[in-house]
Amino acid sequence: MKRKVFSKLLGLFALLLVFHAVVIEILFHRIVQGAASRPRHVLGQEAALSGIAALALAMLLAAWFSHSISLRLRRMVDFALRIAEGHLDARLEEREEDELSAMARALNVTATQLEMSFAELDNRRRELAALLDSMQEAVVAIGADRRVSWSNAVMQRMAGTQIREGVSLAHAIRDPEVLQCVESALQQREVRTGRAIAFVPGRVLEINAAPTPGGGAVVVLHDVTAVEAAEKSRREFFANVSHELRTPLTSISGYVETLMEESMPSPQTTREFLAIILKNAQRMNRLTEDLLELASIESKDYLLNLRPVKAGSLLEDAVDSLAGMVVETGVQLETRVATDAYVMADEDAMTQVFGNLIENAMKYGRPDGRIILSAKVQGDEVEFKVQDFGPGIASDHLERIFERFYRVDKARSRESGGTGLGLAIVKHIVQAHGGHIWAESELGSGTTFHFTIPVVAMPASREPNAEAHENPAKK
Ligand SMILES: Nc1ncnc2c1ncn2[C@@H]1O[C@H](COP(=O)(O)OP(=O)(O)O)[C@@H](O)[C@H]1O
Ligand SMILES: [Mg+2]
Repeated sequence: MKRKVFSKLLGLFALLLVFHAVVIEILFHRIVQGAASRPRHVLGQEAALSGIAALALAMLLAAWFSHSISLRLRRMVDFALRIAEGHLDARLEEREEDELSAMARALNVTATQLEMSFAELDNRRRELAALLDSMQEAVVAIGADRRVSWSNAVMQRMAGTQIREGVSLAHAIRDPEVLQCVESALQQREVRTGRAIAFVPGRVLEINAAPTPGGGAVVVLHDVTAVEAAEKSRREFFANVSHELRTPLTSISGYVETLMEESMPSPQTTREFLAIILKNAQRMNRLTEDLLELASIESKDYLLNLRPVKAGSLLEDAVDSLAGMVVETGVQLETRVATDAYVMADEDAMTQVFGNLIENAMKYGRPDGRIILSAKVQGDEVEFKVQDFGPGIASDHLERIFERFYRVDKARSRESGGTGLGLAIVKHIVQAHGGHIWAESELGSGTTFHFTIPVVAMPASREPNAEAHENPAKK
């Protein structure tokens, strides 16, 4: 059974009543006993004194009791203030068992629940921060006062040190396109989008500014440089394909029309025209073949028929497949193999690589010049080289010759039947083998194409007569 504050007061009151009753009883006794012997005024004084003593005692008890209650109330107020200051781990200790201690317990429960809710909120905040930090987009949140309230890691990387909590957005992000977009979203209370091309040099950013309920806004910057570059390259590719196909097609239809218009074309003119038509048709044919080849190599389904092959035998195969052309052009093809290493390669694809590089060396090199093919081990790769001694390629073209349709001399490439796709195909094949390709050149001295293929370790027993190891994945 609890002793309540009210029952304490009741108890105190009862105590005082009993005390008074005792005093009155004593007085009555004394009055009865001493009525004869003691004077009346003495009896009156005693009665007054005992009354005062009873009153003083009652006041003392009341003061002590109210002091103890006020102490406990003050402790509760202090506790509430500590909670308000954020000390959610503070707790009230109560030894009594009354309404005040029940209140203290209720306050403790409230504090515990507050602490748990805050901890959960803090966890959520951390999770959200980690999520936003892991995003590829830059995010910044601002309040109605246009000051930064939060920003993620990408935004801090983009904007540098000036983006801090409390800093005005105009100070942190000095890009007019971003600021205009945000201002518009804040004023119209609608999502606004835009593009920023100057905020990060060389990058194109898509801006998305959305108003938030508190009167602020969240700004997301998405880097679309790669997407735009891919889109540009796709547009350029289709423009190039159309152009490359239209040129021979225009020529073909022009010559056919001329032949049809002539009532009696001479056999010689007819042959000449037909030869031109055939040449253009063959050019279109080569172009479509190369385009199909490139599409197949670039597709996700492109798989090589890999098996361990001696680096030297790849060179020999390439030379054999070009024997006819070598005789025709009179070039000297030299092979220098300085390794017995094996590489995991698709032989057909490799013959295509060497074929393209040697053909280029013949076409763009000196007409009856030398071409050196070589293979040597470099680290854990075999480095192949195709070297010619022709006019070479200027350094500003060197990086670009692997791009689709890029030619240093368009007319010469077309004249020699080039499509401008050969090196792009070669690059893809080499990369599909896990290697890389590059060109070195000095104007007037010649060009060397280098490419690497990783060496494959062969068990000693299998090395001399390596049995074909078919990769289950077929092209
Ligand atoms: N060995 C080389 N010497 C000089 N220029 C070369 C050589 N190989 C390639 N090039 C240049 O690189 C361009 C791209 O080559 P490629 O992709 O094979 O296309 P294509 O041979 O059909 O023109 C060529 O047009 C040519 O200008
Ligand atoms: Mg070529």
